[in-house]
Amino acid sequence: MTSKTHLLFPTVVQTTDIENSDALNKRLVEAVATLQSQIPNTKPDDWACSVYTTLHSEIDLFLVHPFSEMKPIALREISRYADTMHMHAPAANLRILDAWINVYETGDSQEMHVHKNSVFSGIYYVQAPEGCSEVMFRSSESDTMIDPPKTATDELNATEALFPAVAGQMIIFRSNLQHCVLSNATQTPRISLSFNVDIYE
Ligand SMILES: [Fe+2]
Repeated sequence: MTSKTHLLFPTVVQTTDIENSDALNKRLVEAVATLQSQIPNTKPDDWACSVYTTLHSEIDLFLVHPFSEMKPIALREISRYADTMHMHAPAANLRILDAWINVYETGDSQEMHVHKNSVFSGIYYVQAPEGCSEVMFRSSESDTMIDPPKTATDELNATEALFPAVAGQMIIFRSNLQHCVLSNATQTPRISLSFNVDIYE
């Protein structure tokens, strides 16, 4: 008897440690403090979680120094992610839809969600103190599958994956991938910069 196990339709997530991120993050942390003092929390009414976000503010973050330094890095990393997946998405064909800051104080979190009307999404960690909360990705299959009990959790049966927040690291994923941020336990805030990108020919 010959039997093979096939893995189909992988979920592709890319992590990159961004160059010179210590100096970059120092500038960004200062700029986030200024931003927070000037822009009220624009957390949408339908978010049950608590977190400071500029998501629905009028500000175009990638036009404002020093956040603008992140724009070419974001486009480069998304283009690289697309290359890995053999998709044609050169940086010149990518369009930033949104870029925003999330600040997680002690106890803050973000519920499970997807980024609608977008193709690629990214998270960059501006500040990630030791022990701060992870991002959890979840397979959309888990919403519809009836699972038998597991004898072990591995890449063949896992429906969730935790990624630690690492200062200076950028995570790229498809925008329809469900994710959430677990409750943050650190006294120093966990700060992330997120963005959505689509593609045109
Ligand atoms: Fe998100």
